[in-house]
Amino acid sequence: MKYKNIVNGPQNASRIILGCMRMPALSVEDAAKMIKTASELGVNFFDHATCYGAGEAEERFGSAFPMTGLKREDVIIQSKCGLHFDTKEFDWSREDILSSVDGILSRLKMDYIDVLLLHRPDLIFDPEEVADAFDKLYNEGKVKYFGVSNVTPGQLELLKKYVKQPLVFNQLQFSLDQTQLIDAALYLNNMTTDRSTDRDNGILDYCRLNDITIQAWSPLQIGMFKGCFVDHPDYPELNKKLEEIGERYGVPKTAVAIAWILRHPAKMQAIAGTMNPEHLKSICDAAKVDLTHHEWYELYLASGKFLPSCCTGNPIPGLLPWNGIILHLMLHWLLGNPGQQNHRSSWKKAFSCHPAFWISLFSFLLLYRLQKLRFSSLSCFFSWLRCCRLKFRQSQYLRLQKFLISCASCASIFLLFRQQCLLCLPEPVLSEL
Ligand SMILES: NC(=O)c1ccc[n+]([C@@H]2O[C@H](COP(=O)([O-])OP(=O)(O)OC[C@H]3O[C@@H](n4cnc5c(N)ncnc54)[C@H](OP(=O)(O)O)[C@@H]3O)[C@@H](O)[C@H]2O)c1
Repeated sequence: MKYKNIVNGPQNASRIILGCMRMPALSVEDAAKMIKTASELGVNFFDHATCYGAGEAEERFGSAFPMTGLKREDVIIQSKCGLHFDTKEFDWSREDILSSVDGILSRLKMDYIDVLLLHRPDLIFDPEEVADAFDKLYNEGKVKYFGVSNVTPGQLELLKKYVKQPLVFNQLQFSLDQTQLIDAALYLNNMTTDRSTDRDNGILDYCRLNDITIQAWSPLQIGMFKGCFVDHPDYPELNKKLEEIGERYGVPKTAVAIAWILRHPAKMQAIAGTMNPEHLKSICDAAKVDLTHHEWYELYLASGKFLPSCCTGNPIPGLLPWNGIILHLMLHWLLGNPGQQNHRSSWKKAFSCHPAFWISLFSFLLLYRLQKLRFSSLSCFFSWLRCCRLKFRQSQYLRLQKFLISCASCASIFLLFRQQCLLCLPEPVLSEL
C-alpha cells in the first residue's frame, strides 16, 4: 500500500480508501470481514456520508468495527454531511452540520471522527455559519480535520475567509472514464471542442497550490453509477491497454486503472467502493504499479481521449505511418526500373493533364500540416505521382502495379482524412462513433 502524510491533516493515510456507500448491502458479519480484509491489505482510511443508505452505512460500520479487533486510533474515519436525499436539499447551516455530526457519532458508536467533509455545495450557504459549526466541533473534540467534496475554488476561498481550521480534502470524481479534472486545461484556446469548457474553474491546480488532497470518487465507474468500465464491452481499447500494462506489472486490470489515478503528481487518494474482498485485493495491487509517463498517456488515449494539435489515435495501428512508409517505398522501388526511357514524357503528361496529380498535390498540402503524418503523406503523394506516370504505360504488369498503388494511396489518403475529420467533429458526434 502507498501512504501519504496529509498536509495539516492525518498522517500515514492510505492512498486507497474504502468507500462505504455500498456497506448497507452487507450483514454486520460480512461488513466486519470487509473492514478486516481492507485493513490486512493496508487500507486504513474509510469514507462515509450521512446519506449512504440514509445512515445505514455508518450504522453497519459502527456495529461491525468492534468485531474486527482493530484499534480506533489505527484507522482514519471520514464522513460527509449536508446532502439530504429525503428532503431534496443541500444544507450547510450551523444546525444541520452540528446535528449531522451527532447523528454520525451515534451511528458509528464512536466519540469522534477523524475527518468531516461538506458533501455538496449548499446554494445558499453562509461561510460564517460553517465556521461557527466547525469551531464548535473542533473544540469539543468531535472532529479532528475538515474538508469538502465537489467544491469549486471560489467556494473554497469563501470558506477559507471565515473557517479557522485548514480545509485539507476535496472529494472529486476522477477516473479513466471521467477526466474532466484534466481535460479543460489540455484544450485551452481550442474552442472547437466542448472539452475546452472549464467547468470547475481549475480546481485541480487550486487544490495542488493550496495543499488540498483530492480524493477521487468512483474511480472505476462509467459516468454516474452506470457500471464498471473494466471488462465492459463499450471500452475494448481501454481494456486491451489495461490488460497489456497489467501483464507487464503482473497485476489485474483494475489495479492499472487505479494506478493511473495514483500516478498523477497531485498525489490523490482513490476511493474504492467495492464490497467484494477479491475485488478490493485487485484494486490494492495498484500499489505495485508505478506507471511510466508514456504508459499514463497511453491509458488516457485508450480511454477515447484525443490530444489537441497533434494527430494521435492511429485508425489502423501498425499500418500508418511507419509501415505505410515502408509499403510506399517498396512500391516506388518496384516501379523504379520500368519505363525509365519514357520518364520525361510521362512526367510531363502527368503534370500537365492528369487530375490525379492535382488531387495528390492538394492532399499532400492538406496532410502535410499534420506534423506526425508528414512522412506518410509524403509517401502518399509520391505514390499518386507514380500512378500518374503509369497512366501512360500499357503493359498488363504495369497496370497491375498501378492498381495496387492506387489502392494503397487511396487507403492512405482516406485514413489520413478520416483521422483529421474525426479531430474536427464536435464532441457529442465523436463520442457516438
Ligand atoms: N463525494 C461524492 O459525491 C461521492 C459520490 C459517489 C461515491 N463517492 C464515494 O466513492 C466510493 C466509490 O464509489 P463507487 O462504488 O461508485 O465506485 P467504484 O469504486 O468505482 O466502483 C464501481 C464498480 O466497480 C466494480 N468493481 C470494483 N472492482 C472490480 C473488479 N475487480 N472487477 C469488476 N468490477 C469491479 C464494483 O462492483 P463490485 O461491488 O461488484 O465489486 C462497483 O460496482 C463510494 O463508496 C463513496 O465512498 C463519493
